[in-house]
Amino acid sequence: MLDTLHQDHVNISRLLNVLRDNLAAIRSEKPVKFSLLKDALVYLSEVSDTYHHPREDLIYDYYVAYRSHDEEPVTNMLKEQHKEIIASGQQLLELVDMILMDAVIPLDTVAVALEQFIALQQKHLDYEESIIFPLLRKNLTEDDWRHLEHNWEHKIVDDPLFGREVAERYQDLSTQLLSH
Ligand SMILES: [Fe+2]
Ligand SMILES: [Fe+2]
Repeated sequence: MLDTLHQDHVNISRLLNVLRDNLAAIRSEKPVKFSLLKDALVYLSEVSDTYHHPREDLIYDYYVAYRSHDEEPVTNMLKEQHKEIIASGQQLLELVDMILMDAVIPLDTVAVALEQFIALQQKHLDYEESIIFPLLRKNLTEDDWRHLEHNWEHKIVDDPLFGREVAERYQDLSTQLLSH
C-alpha cells in the first residue's frame, strides 16, 4: 500500500514538473498551453484529491487510533494540508478556466497562484516521504496493512493517466509527460 502511495508521489512529481514548465513560460512571457495546464490541475484534483489523499487519510486515522504514541498533531496537520492543497488547486483551476474563457486575468496573478500551489504540493510530498512514510513503515505491522488494504479494496479504481490505459481526456497531457 505504501508502495502504491509512493508511486503516486512519483507521478505527482512529474506533474509538478509540467506545472513548473508552465510557470517558467508565464514568467518569461512565452506562449502557455493553458488547456494542458488545466488538464494537469484536473488530474491532480480528480485522482490525487479524491483517491491518493483519502487513502493516506485512512492510514493516518488508523495509525492515530491504534498505533501512534504522540504523533497525533502530525497526522492531523497532514489532513489539514490535504484540505489546503485541494482548496488551493480549486482556486487555481478557476483562474485557468477564466483565462480559457478569455477573461482578462493578469498573468502575474496566475503565476503567483501557480507557484504557491506547486510549493504547497512539494512541501507536503517531501514531508510525507521523509518523515511520515518511514514512521508508518516502522510502526505498522503486516496485519495492520492487511486490515487497511481490506478497508480500501472497494474504492480501487484504475488511474486515468498513469494506469493501464490513458483516458481520452488525458491524451495531450500524457504526450507532454512523455516528452519530459
Ligand atoms: Fe498527503
Ligand atoms: Fe501523499
